[in-house]
Amino acid sequence: MSLHGRDVVSIRDLTRAEIEEILAASRRMIPYAEGTKVAHPLANKVVAMAFFEPSTRTRLSFEAAVHRLGGDCLTIADAGATSMRKGESLYDTIRMLSSYADAIVIRHPHEGAARLAARASERPVLNAGDGAGQHPTQTLLDLATMHEAFGTLSGLRVVLLGDLKFGRTVHSLAFALAEFGSEIVLSSPPSLRLPDEHRDDLRRLGAQVTEEPDLDRAIRDADVLYVTRIQKERFGDDDAEYRRVAGTYRIDNRVLAEAKPRLIVLHPLPRAGEVAPEVDHTPHAAYFRQAFLAVPVRMALLEAILGPKPRRR
Ligand code: CP
Repeated sequence: MSLHGRDVVSIRDLTRAEIEEILAASRRMIPYAEGTKVAHPLANKVVAMAFFEPSTRTRLSFEAAVHRLGGDCLTIADAGATSMRKGESLYDTIRMLSSYADAIVIRHPHEGAARLAARASERPVLNAGDGAGQHPTQTLLDLATMHEAFGTLSGLRVVLLGDLKFGRTVHSLAFALAEFGSEIVLSSPPSLRLPDEHRDDLRRLGAQVTEEPDLDRAIRDADVLYVTRIQKERFGDDDAEYRRVAGTYRIDNRVLAEAKPRLIVLHPLPRAGEVAPEVDHTPHAAYFRQAFLAVPVRMALLEAILGPKPRRR
């Protein structure tokens, strides 16, 4: 694998072969993520967590990954506590941070902020979500969860449900599913359809994409139901539009009654009512396993980028 020293800003920054290598490495990482085996390939490495938007899973699983690998973290969890409050630019903040750390993980509310950070940084930058843009490391753990359940990423029928307009997780995931040859079913309220630029990308990749706003029909024959939250924070002042679409879909045991027995429900989380808690107790619920797999997947990625340089064969 040649990821050493590289940025990961978009899922497009990784080839299919590189994604497969990361997923294979993440499977080997599971006992290390659980703490039953110990290795410290990131000893003496420092990874900066620059989070300018709230996060539970992404920041803490990245931090857990760094700790499990023997490295240390520097964390900005609140932009208001940095000198950006005094007017310092994102560019300068990242430029300076890259002289303190060996890599930077960034989350920011603005699309494109991670790419700007990669230009500012002298060290690798990993995008942990930039506005409605991309969330490539989430995609890696989404794929890892699907692979664990089905042993393949090809030929699956995957329903992407919810906010496909602003949802950065689906923007990254749809591209990867197309690369792996899975079928994509888009199901969203009309005002939250997948933007044209992403549809064009999928078409260029020759992906099999259909649109099915009817939830019951979308789920029929699906292998994976990928549910997303309608993100209030992306609507700005348009509260009326948010209220119009909020609560228009909800996955519960009634909805799942007609699903394939092996269908898995994924959700990047947090959920805000789209998946009823009763689903947690069914074999369909895979979202907490998905949240755990964030640790071995991010460990595998960090080791590839920051660990000992692979020797040329
Ligand atoms: N999946 C995800 O990005 O969760 P957080 O917002 O809690 O990091």
